[in-house]
Order: sequence, then C-alpha cells, then structure tokens
Amino acid sequence: MPISQVNRILALETSCDDSSAAVVTLTGQCATVEACLSQNQDSKHNPFGGIVPEIACRNHTLQLLPLVEKVMALSGNTWADINAIAVTNRPGLIGSLLVGIVTAKTLAWTKKLPLVGVNHIEGHIFAPFLTDPQYSPSFSFDEPFLSLVVSGGHTHLFEVSRPGAYCLLGKTRDDAAGEAFDKVAKLLGLGFPGGRTIDALSQFGDPSRFSFPRALIHEASLDFSFSGLKTSAHRAISDIGREALGSEINNVCASFQEAVVDVLIDRLDKAVRRTGRRRVVITGGVSANSHLRAEALAWAKSVSVQLNIPPNRYCTDNAAMIGLAGLLRFREGQADGLELGPSARALPTDYQLAALGL
Ligand code: KG4
Ligand code: ZN
Repeated sequence: MPISQVNRILALETSCDDSSAAVVTLTGQCATVEACLSQNQDSKHNPFGGIVPEIACRNHTLQLLPLVEKVMALSGNTWADINAIAVTNRPGLIGSLLVGIVTAKTLAWTKKLPLVGVNHIEGHIFAPFLTDPQYSPSFSFDEPFLSLVVSGGHTHLFEVSRPGAYCLLGKTRDDAAGEAFDKVAKLLGLGFPGGRTIDALSQFGDPSRFSFPRALIHEASLDFSFSGLKTSAHRAISDIGREALGSEINNVCASFQEAVVDVLIDRLDKAVRRTGRRRVVITGGVSANSHLRAEALAWAKSVSVQLNIPPNRYCTDNAAMIGLAGLLRFREGQADGLELGPSARALPTDYQLAALGL
C-alpha cells in the first residue's frame, strides 16, 4: 500500500511517565479511536515529588508490550489490519522515548510496516480532533485554527494553517502551566502530580481570597510566565503558616487556579484578535482543568469562536493523539526509517516562529 493511503495505525506514546498504545483510523477528516489504553506511573513517582527518569523508563519496559497486546485485542484487529506504526520520538525524556522507539521499530521490522516518528506536541495539537462513540469535535483540522497546548512540560500557543505547518505565536518563558500546578500542589502537601487535586479543592475555595499576579497581561507579547505566580503562592503559603493552612488551602488553590486560567484566556483572546482566526483548540493535561474548560467555553461564546477541548482522556498524554498526528504525516507522504532515534527537544524544523511585529 502507498504510504499516503495508510488509514489504520498502531501508535505508541512513552515520552514521559505515561505508557500508552492506541489503534486509530482516518477516513477523510474523521479520526476514529478504535482503542486506546494508557497506564500511568503516578504511584511510583509520587514519593519523590516529581518524575524520576530512570524509574519512568524501567516501568515503560514492563508496561508497553502488554498494552500493545491488549489494545490490539480490544480494537478487534489482527496485524494484517494495521497499515503502519507511529511513535513519539521527541521531545521528552530520552530513556522513556527509547522504550517506545525500540518497541515501534521492532514491530515495524517484524510486521513489515512503515514507521513514523511524531513530535509529542504535534500529538497534543490533534487530540481535540479525535472521535469516539462519546466525543465528536465541533470542527475538523482541515481549516486553520489556533492551538493552546498546556501540559506539565509545555505551554505553547500555535497558529496551525494546515497539518504540518505550525507557527509558534508564544510560549512560556519559564515554568509550564502544569509545572506551576504541580509545584504549588507540592508546597501545599498535595502530592504529585497535583493539578487534578488543586482543581478538586478549588471547587470549595474563594478565588478572590488571595491576589496573585497575572504575568504579561498588560503586554502585547503572546508569551507566558508562571514563575512569579509560583513565588507569590509560595510566599502566601509561608505567611499563612502550617497551623492555619488547613482552613485556607481551598482558597489558595482557587486563587492560584484563577490566576493561571485568566492568563491562558487572555492570551487566547489576544491571539484571536491578532490573527483573525475563528477556530480554537485547547489541549494538554491542564486542559482537563474544570475552571479552564468553563471559562474557555464562556469566552468562546462571547467572541463567537468555535472551540474544541477534548474529553479528559485525550487531554493528558495518550497514544491516540500520536496516532492521528502519524496518520496525517503518512497522508503527506512522510515516513521514517529504522534509524529513527529520540530527541530531548523538538527539531528546529518542527515550528516556524511568528512574525507578528511584536
Ligand atoms: O499532557 P500531560 O499528561 O503530560 C505532559 O505532557 O506534561 O500533562 C500533565 C500535567 C500535569 O502537570 C498535571 O498536574 C496537569 O497536567 N493536570 C491538570 C489537571 N489534570 C492534569 N492541571 C490542572 N487541572 C487539572 N484537572
Ligand atoms: Zn503531554
């Protein structure tokens, strides 16, 4: 089969601490997730307050092949039904990436299937376009859109004119949004990763109780910065003191969360005004945040913008999004050979930089 006609793919994701395998099909503009299974390692890393790269890659070696076998069975396919293999090969932890890449190359070689390496962020960009029986996107990737990728490792704002053409409008100058959630959660003794817990506790807190900074909100730049907010939250937590923290923790969470969300919506609003794009996606682990989702929906309605936010299962790291990004690469006639290797960083050719005259 010519690679441009590849339409059912097995995808693997191991760039950080989640192992995931998925089978995805692409028919026209419709990307269907036939099966996607993921296994996190939170309990293994939690005692260390962050991801330990060595532990992450060891667990991928234990978790990945059983996930591949299960996802093949769950999707109801045999190897004869699979046209190609996609794997995350950048950016990420080298040891973790290697486990996925070696597994993908072995499968591609033994099953005689074409292989493509995918940029993890490109995967996140396409997660809001996946379809399954419970979720359908409100618009497809065939028209230009803006993409806000907010995860534990990245906070990037792109203008996507077509699959493969990503113009970076702004990115974080220091911490990623999810990293800020995780660091503040750690200061509050909420474990790792802490974004979901801060989200849950914020439901019971007063977001106006603490006044935290909204960095760069009065500037033209579409960049982000969360280190000042993190320092400010640190100071507030120290001032409250250990004794009183119990009665203030929900308020700290709600005030911090609102500051992050205000900044994210501000940048989206500025990007829409500057580029004139009317379609937006929000993606990455932090897009699971309930306050961000509610505020983004309200904002999109108020400015008449079409918005896709994937369900939580496609917000955090998963192989289905890598499958769709890989299918789109094959559609463009691109593939990799068995020399494919990992890269801790994105390639210089992965994104163009915006020339917005800022
Ligand atoms: O995309 P992801 O699974 O992995 C990376 O590529 O980084 O994102 C993980 C990040 C973590 O920082 C986690 O705390 C954050 O997403 N996260 C959340 C929520 N759920 C996950 N942050 C805020 N609210 C949530 N509900
Ligand atoms: Zn991610």
